[in-house]
Parts: sequence; C-alpha cells; structure tokens
Amino acid sequence: MAFLAVHPDYRNLSRGEKLLKHITLQSKNLNLEKLFVLTTRSNHWFLERGFFAAKVDMLPIKKQGLYNYQRYLKILILNIK
Ligand SMILES: CC(C)(COP(=O)(O)OP(=O)(O)OC[C@H]1O[C@@H](n2cnc3c(N)ncnc32)[C@H](O)[C@@H]1OP(=O)(O)O)[C@@H](O)C(=O)NCCC(=O)NCCS
Repeated sequence: MAFLAVHPDYRNLSRGEKLLKHITLQSKNLNLEKLFVLTTRSNHWFLERGFFAAKVDMLPIKKQGLYNYQRYLKILILNIK
C-alpha cells in the first residue's frame, strides 16, 4: 500500500479508518494475504489497526532493494487472511 493520506482539513473524522477498511476488503477480494506499508510518521496509527512491525526480509524482494536507500522508514504488515 503506497501513501494512505487524508487531507489535513478532514483528519480525525475516521476517514483514514474507512479508507483502510475499504483497501483491506478489496485486498481480500483479490486473495492477497498481506498488506505492507512503509511509513516515517504514522506507524502508531497503523499499529493500532492491526499492523505489526516487520523486518526488511519480510518485504517482497523488489521492495527490499528500495528499502536499502530509505532505511529511516518503518515497515508494517497486516495479515488479511
Ligand atoms: C494517518 C492518516 C491517514 C490518518 O487519517 P485520519 O482520517 O486522520 O485518521 P482516523 O480519523 O481514522 O483516526 C484518528 C485517530 O488516529 C490518531 N492519529 C491520527 N494521525 C496519527 C498519526 N500520524 N500517528 C498516530 N496516530 C494518529 C488520532 O489521534 C485519532 O486517535 P483517537 O481515535 O484515539 O482520537 C492521516 O493522519 C494522514 O493522512 N497522515 C499523513 C500521511 C501519512 O502519514 N500516511 C501514512 C503513511 S503512507
């Protein structure tokens, strides 16, 4: 999942929560097993919604290369099965 964002004027009104629920439902319908997000600022928001902190070797191989250049990012994963 790349860049989940709510406009600053509309934050804290559960819109992020609704977007995440919609993305999770779509992911289930696509038979995906996991969602991952890389974030610098919002890791607690995701942790409170079922994501867990993960290590770089849990990322898809292509994303592991990208992560090497962006080590400040936190890796979070949600099991959706
Ligand atoms: C993270 C984000 C999507 C949340 O959207 P939102 O619609 O404001 O969130 P919700 O209304 O569903 O949830 C609000 C709750 O989350 C908390 N919260 C909001 N932003 C947070 C953050 N960055 N970190 C931790 N908690 C956060 C609020 O305090 C509130 O808590 P409460 O229910 O205990 O009062 C939004 O803050 C955002 O767009 N941030 C900038 C982009 C970003 O960092 N995206 C994630 C990385 S891709």
